Amino acid sequence: MRLKNKSALITGGTSGIGLATAKLFIAEGARVAVTGRDDAVFEQVKAELGENALVLKGDVRSIEDMRRIAAEVKEKFGGLDVVFANAGRAFPSAINDIEEELYNEIMDINVKGVVFTLQAVLPDLREGASFILNTSFVAQTGKHNISLTAAAKAAVRSLARSWSFEFLDRKIRFNAIAPGGINTPLLGKWGMSDHDLQHFKNEFAKFVPVGHMGEPQDIAYAALYLASDESSYVVGTELVVDGGASQL
Ligand SMILES: NC(=O)c1ccc[n+]([C@@H]2O[C@H](COP(=O)([O-])OP(=O)(O)OC[C@H]3O[C@@H](n4cnc5c(N)ncnc54)[C@H](OP(=O)(O)O)[C@@H]3O)[C@@H](O)[C@H]2O)c1
Repeated sequence: MRLKNKSALITGGTSGIGLATAKLFIAEGARVAVTGRDDAVFEQVKAELGENALVLKGDVRSIEDMRRIAAEVKEKFGGLDVVFANAGRAFPSAINDIEEELYNEIMDINVKGVVFTLQAVLPDLREGASFILNTSFVAQTGKHNISLTAAAKAAVRSLARSWSFEFLDRKIRFNAIAPGGINTPLLGKWGMSDHDLQHFKNEFAKFVPVGHMGEPQDIAYAALYLASDESSYVVGTELVVDGGASQL
């Protein structure tokens, strides 16, 4: 029970990496609030997570939503020991395809969402809390044809450093996790056919040194380490979990 008696908030916890992390945190003794926008999946998520979970609706791009979520979490949990600012999306963005709407979508979900998540929960973070940001392996290199998402995630990685310094006096640790290609519903939201999606995944796997995509649990275990007191000397860093894709 590495998170016994701890309370956690996971944004974007209704699918993929966030949902897997919520399950692991609960199994390790935590109470966990997860958020998402699509409430059609909430009953299913509640059934999967059980009685130690809160499932809350909100858009990370809205400061009002994040303040309401923070208030609901405070009322139920009293305070927070762990936040996983995980909600995010990735989109291809060749330079000539970038319109203002796409630019705002990518930057707002990935960067604005993280900024206002922290601002909303800041008063409720307990001394010694762990705040984990979800970045991406695509920001480690320039070769994935996903420039704006990479730039947004590079900004998030930078925030982990700046906020670590800013909140040293409150002993709040900020660290990032950079997932590689992980088998979640995210890629399915790009509008590819099932056939094309499978082809994309097969081709992608060939370029991963370990030979396959990651699973959501691979990131959940990294988040568990950063959330637990085992990582109390780890501050402002980024843990890359990508099967070597950006490192070898
Ligand atoms: N999968 C990968 O290969 C990969 C690689 C590198 C980094 N990542 C990062 O990992 C994180 C999780 O991705 P995933 O693969 O688990 O994706 P996913 O399965 O699509 O889950 C994304 C979650 O975020 C929520 N979300 C999306 N936009 C939101 C918004 N504006 N406000 C609140 N919640 C929002 C989604 O719920 P709703 O749609 O209902 O809002 C869902 O719960 C993201 O930050 C992503 O960039 C993923």
